[in-house]
Amino acid sequence: MEAKKKFYITTPIYYPSAKLHIGHAYCTVATDVIARYKRMQGYDVMFLTGTDEHGQKIEEKAKKAGVTPQQFVDSIVLGKDGVKALWKLMNISNDRFIRTTDDYHVAAIQKIFKKMYDNGDIYKGKYKGKYCTPCESFWTESQLVDGKCPDCGGEVIDAEEEAYFFRLSKYAEPVRKLLLEGNFLEPASRVNEMVKNFIDPGLEDLCVSRTSFTWGVPVDFDPGHVVYVWVDALFNYCTALGFMNDKYPDSDFEEFWPADVHMVGKEIVRFHSIIWPAMLMSMNMPLPKKIYGHGWLLLGGSRMSKTKGNVVDPYILSERFGVDALRFYLMREFPLGSDGNFSNELLISRINSELANDLGNLLSRSVAMVEKYFGGVIPAERKADPMDDELVSMARGLRDKYERLMDSFGTQAALEEIFKVISRANKYIDETAPWVLAKDMDANGARLAEVMYNLIEVLRITLTLLTPFMPESASKGFAQIGATEAETTWQAANEFGIRRNVRVHKGEALFPRIDAKKELETLEKLEHQAPACQAQQHEAEKADNKAEKKAEKVEEKQDAADYISFDDFEKVKLRVAVVKNCEFVPKSEKLLRFTLDMGGGEERTILSGIRKWYPEPETLIGKRVIACVNLKPRKMVGIMSEGMLLSAFTPTEDGGEELRLLSTEDIMPGGSEVG
Ligand code: MSP
Repeated sequence: MEAKKKFYITTPIYYPSAKLHIGHAYCTVATDVIARYKRMQGYDVMFLTGTDEHGQKIEEKAKKAGVTPQQFVDSIVLGKDGVKALWKLMNISNDRFIRTTDDYHVAAIQKIFKKMYDNGDIYKGKYKGKYCTPCESFWTESQLVDGKCPDCGGEVIDAEEEAYFFRLSKYAEPVRKLLLEGNFLEPASRVNEMVKNFIDPGLEDLCVSRTSFTWGVPVDFDPGHVVYVWVDALFNYCTALGFMNDKYPDSDFEEFWPADVHMVGKEIVRFHSIIWPAMLMSMNMPLPKKIYGHGWLLLGGSRMSKTKGNVVDPYILSERFGVDALRFYLMREFPLGSDGNFSNELLISRINSELANDLGNLLSRSVAMVEKYFGGVIPAERKADPMDDELVSMARGLRDKYERLMDSFGTQAALEEIFKVISRANKYIDETAPWVLAKDMDANGARLAEVMYNLIEVLRITLTLLTPFMPESASKGFAQIGATEAETTWQAANEFGIRRNVRVHKGEALFPRIDAKKELETLEKLEHQAPACQAQQHEAEKADNKAEKKAEKVEEKQDAADYISFDDFEKVKLRVAVVKNCEFVPKSEKLLRFTLDMGGGEERTILSGIRKWYPEPETLIGKRVIACVNLKPRKMVGIMSEGMLLSAFTPTEDGGEELRLLSTEDIMPGGSEVG
């Protein structure tokens, strides 16, 4: 027998620094959908996910929570509402789960690091930077806030320490070639961004060891150094297949590496499309076939983050709407490559319109009619009519369309195609009016049987193709239309009219309609109550969840620290400013020089590092922008900048993002107060 073709797919390994949110679930669900799709096609799939557990942030969080880092990550990964429990709840079909604190992984990372050291690609050098003594932290110039430590606000000094470096610069050209030729990185729109922003300006060697904290993989030949968390993390994709360790058989690595696709969020595309291939080249290993950089799930226009407090809890949503409805919404609402706004309103409206109405009704009406008119079994004698042709041909063509879209990560478009056929089937019910045919069974029985047969066939095919998205509901649907396993395969989805002896079984509605107004009120309450409920649960699980409880407290404190008082806000003076002139700053690749009319004859110069986003600065002349006018003036490239202009990143149509200055209506005079 011919061996099955292999397919290896991964999610990023998530930081267990806090409970995961719907953004993490989004990536994992998307990866799960593709893994299930490939399995359905007959591939031997390896689907890996896991957690990235080392690093200074986790060390600090654990310290604040009064537990060891290991206890801290254990509670977030293994706890009751932990990462593993979340994936189980969301029906994620991962084959493996790696934790970077697993012994086998740690040992393998040490060997990998040593190998790159031995081949000369890792060398010892001096890390130069700004050092904050009380915080024992190195910072780069750009991380400083007003020239001070971003953590404690204290003075920093120029300092250097010994560190290991990876010769990333050596791989600049091969990586450029990799990015520009073929389709290693998708969506293609991300390629330019990588080349222009990171490779063209010159790739510098990467500092790959740290001595300022200990929670990491120790460099075994140089005590005191721990391996940089991204080196540790990226190689998970290989160690989880048994590479350089004996946890899994060597054959796994041979069979599944290179990965077919690493699914990652767009903010970590740089690590995956530049640093990762460079390190693999250094190790003389085959490169993954594809990196797919998906977009972000936004809330109120900005990226969800635990510290901002704007996260959506996948537990609450799964419980309220069912896992499949949530999975469906995440994949249905926007294309994978683009950003999209999450909203409870949209979630409910998708469930009501497409799941309850279109799909749910088609299923329940069709099954109910077969029961009512034929006692549950469609008779063998049937009579076709040209009226059936359009629906039948749409159903016949669906699998191929779906395959083309799914193969290019067009999950949203694939769902759209399925729902076109479902809508067409609902229209077909109205056109054929089975209830009229049923009035004269002697004359129309065979015709009615054909109509019912076609509807049930459409359901069989659409439910099969929906299986990767909504596995549980699809299988409940199969039970209702009496479809066997053999009738719900990938192959069978390409064939219309294969069933004999169709017997249906009425069942519960797959997706009950939701009362949007009531539900939104409940959600609102639940989302606000969530921390309190969590606290109660934690009370009940005192012993094992001590760490988790403390972690929550740290989060709460952090959230509180995120608020400022009204007085604080009042300190920031924002004014409308009219751009009188805007030009490049000689000798600077980043800066634009703005001359601004601040009203009352006042003029100001502000430098802004946004040249990349405005290649034609003169187009800004005459615009009204918003300036913070009481920021301490700062000299850059010999010019004094007297404030800061406000800007925001906005998503672009091709799934990327661009920076835009905030501006106001033309009627506002320069100097108008903003607040
Ligand atoms: N540990 C690193 C990844 C190492 S991979 C070798 C990391 N972890 S993370 O916990 O920050 O998870 C990042 C990933 O979670 C993103 O790349 C993305 O896939 C997913 N998401 C996190 N927030 C998200 C949204 N708001 N929207 C969509 N995906 C999001 O980075």
